[in-house]
Amino acid sequence: MSIDLIVKNVALPDGRTGVDIACAAGKIVAIEPNIDGEAGRIIDAGGRLVSPPFVDCHFHMDATLSLGLPRLNQSGTLLEGIALWGELKPLLTHEAVKERALRYIDLAVSQGLLAIRTHVDVCDDRLLAVEALLDVKKTVAPYLDLQLVAFPQDGYYRSPTAAQNLDRALDLGVDIVGGIPHFERTMADGARSMTALCEIAAKRGLLVDIHCDETDDPNSRHIEALTYETQRLGLGGRVAGSHLTSMHSMDNYYVSKLLPLMAEAGVSAIANPLINIVIQGRHDTYPKRRGQTRVPELRKHGIPVAFGHDCVMDPWYSLGQGDMLEVATMGLHVGQLTSRDDMRFCFKAVTEAPAKIMHLDGYGITVGNNADMVLLQAADPIEAIRLKATRLAVIRRGKVIAETPARIASLDLPGRPPRVDPAAYAPKASLAG
Ligand code: FE2
Repeated sequence: MSIDLIVKNVALPDGRTGVDIACAAGKIVAIEPNIDGEAGRIIDAGGRLVSPPFVDCHFHMDATLSLGLPRLNQSGTLLEGIALWGELKPLLTHEAVKERALRYIDLAVSQGLLAIRTHVDVCDDRLLAVEALLDVKKTVAPYLDLQLVAFPQDGYYRSPTAAQNLDRALDLGVDIVGGIPHFERTMADGARSMTALCEIAAKRGLLVDIHCDETDDPNSRHIEALTYETQRLGLGGRVAGSHLTSMHSMDNYYVSKLLPLMAEAGVSAIANPLINIVIQGRHDTYPKRRGQTRVPELRKHGIPVAFGHDCVMDPWYSLGQGDMLEVATMGLHVGQLTSRDDMRFCFKAVTEAPAKIMHLDGYGITVGNNADMVLLQAADPIEAIRLKATRLAVIRRGKVIAETPARIASLDLPGRPPRVDPAAYAPKASLAG
């Protein structure tokens, strides 16, 4: 067998160190110490972390990089963002949507982000953004897995042609069924939309990803309806609730009933930390709510949780750069996820967890899987988050597709702060007693 690439002396996110990874014909063919022999290319990782690629399971590719078109969001609220997007929509062209998407994807891929689930608005009768992003999906397939969600931004019932447009988009090849129940005219319409959209997914054999309860309203209960429909239609493992920010404000007793139901039904949760922290709490005086969903509690109930980027330079968010380590950092801080285990979870929330939610095939650093990986200028996942580590090499199907020079060598190996050994800090028996 001819080996295309060997990455030598790597650390893996699961804690293994000092192993080599060999790649051939686009797959990982060996992970073991001291792989010798000829290869098209050999990279010495110098003990640094090789991670599976970053994955963003919640994004809006049709709006990205449109900041300032046709104006800026003055209030910073979700609702002004939706109104502003409504002003921009008639001005969109196929070429402009495609050009911005490709520019963003170049930026994302250079940072090791090799799979993105994007929502695409289907409330424009021209379905112009749908067609542009289907084009983009084909163009980028060699280096990025792009999933599209048919997203009725103006409401499945509230927008007069959304229902037929959503069907048309799915017929054109859009992968996933989306929705936005909290934007319907009434709570009852929101619940009805959950029934209708989950039934479409069940009938077509598709996944579901709903913008669900993206409000500060403690009484917004669409996640309950989504969970009910998931269970009723046997869609477990195929449904994600995105945002779920109202859960931040819900009554504790209600949440104690809700979370076991979500776990039982097999609903996943996607928080979008950068967006949730700037958009939620806008109607509060002080204290201002953070709005991020209850990540530790969801986790405790065994509910899969991922972090998405959501927006980059668009009507809702003026910042961002396609860096999933920035997303992990914000999720960590807002959720106060500071234990060693919690910080490792935050790294998984932008790698393994969204890969599972997206049902990506062949993902992960395991023999037989796709030879997709990122060499980071860090020793482990926690250091990667701390440093927003430079992506020294981005590898897709065994080929290096992007490289960035090391930032400041002394930030990591050698001379970095010593590894924390929790055992060294455990209470002594004499003190404990
Ligand atoms: Fe979103």
